[in-house]
Amino acid sequence: MASIQQWTTPLKGVDSLQLGEAPKPAPGKGEVLVEIRAVSLNYRDVEVTNGEYTHHKSVEQESKIVPCSDMCGVVTQVGDDVTTWKVGDRVLSTFLPDHQTGQVTAKELSGGLGLPLDGVLATHRVFPDYALVKAPSYLSDEEAATLPIAAVTAWMSINGMRPMGQNGGEGEYIVLQGTGGVAVSGLQIGKASGAKVIITSSSDEKLAQAKQLGADYTINYRTQPNWEDEVMRLTDQHGADVILEVGGAQTLKKSFDCIAFGGLINCIGYVSGKMDAPDDRTNVNLLALRRTVTLKGIINGPKDRFEEMVAFYEKHQIHPVVNKVFSFPEAKEAFKFLAGGSHFGKVVIKI
Ligand SMILES: NC(=O)c1ccc[n+]([C@@H]2O[C@H](COP(=O)([O-])OP(=O)(O)OC[C@H]3O[C@@H](n4cnc5c(N)ncnc54)[C@H](OP(=O)(O)O)[C@@H]3O)[C@@H](O)[C@H]2O)c1
Repeated sequence: MASIQQWTTPLKGVDSLQLGEAPKPAPGKGEVLVEIRAVSLNYRDVEVTNGEYTHHKSVEQESKIVPCSDMCGVVTQVGDDVTTWKVGDRVLSTFLPDHQTGQVTAKELSGGLGLPLDGVLATHRVFPDYALVKAPSYLSDEEAATLPIAAVTAWMSINGMRPMGQNGGEGEYIVLQGTGGVAVSGLQIGKASGAKVIITSSSDEKLAQAKQLGADYTINYRTQPNWEDEVMRLTDQHGADVILEVGGAQTLKKSFDCIAFGGLINCIGYVSGKMDAPDDRTNVNLLALRRTVTLKGIINGPKDRFEEMVAFYEKHQIHPVVNKVFSFPEAKEAFKFLAGGSHFGKVVIKI
């Protein structure tokens, strides 16, 4: 019987990732078999592998799964009744395959790739035909594989509150925290939209890279821990119209201190912690009221807005930033590299 190769994790740490074989799956009715070419890593994949992705009640913890959600691959077999795809089509995965449009709910969250469902760190995987998006032809496999989580999350943070097709940002101040996958995607989308982009980082070298990508202002949050004051100064006391909050516990209060009146803070991540210090609680009700702020939780985005974003990328010929590519057998090293935090943009595994 034909077999495929896949990495699995018992959710007990990166060192317990295991490369093995499994029978080659066949697509059923309404499904396609995809030969996976590139997988892009997200912060979430490290958390899942460490057994730390526990904050969504609707996401069951499994005992063993294939990790990762983001891939670019080629359709090699189509099941009965599939009209959307043909053999040879280049496709991208969607993080929550059932989230096709509108508001996400527990139902879609309970079907996420790379927990609770098996993910994409494998040579082949079967997908429902509706779960895939056409890969833009101007991007390499490695570049295209970075779009499903990082870019869609940044896209939704900047445009999710606007009606579909009315993508904005021109003249707005957008603040991005750090230089990881979401932030660098936000930088590229923001600049292509005509926004004025302010980006923070712990590293001057990374800030120099961000400048090359068009960042208008850069702030080192290590040497300038009160970066929120600098945002106010740089914007002539206007503040940020949109903030991509990936820091969490140690940054949210600062974001409230540099948001514009009527601005939007997108709660995306928690790289500085999930819990406030007991003696330093963030009093969200007053902080939101003070400048009539919108605080919006973000969980990726639906497929229709992913496709809207791909059209924007094509129009502006945006090339996602792939910092480092690892080979399939080097997957553990790739996870460790991402967890180490020295990357700028995305880390990819070539299958
Ligand atoms: N809600 C969603 O849909 C969604 C989607 C994607 C990601 N996320 C979450 O968003 C966060 C970022 O994800 P990612 O994939 O972009 O991660 P990533 O590529 O690993 O990047 C993380 C970056 O955060 C920066 N950072 C660390 N501590 C910081 C601090 N105290 N203040 C500001 N920046 C800090 C670092 O940038 P420097 O090295 O430049 O300092 C680091 O490179 C994670 O918590 C992830 O779980 C959520």
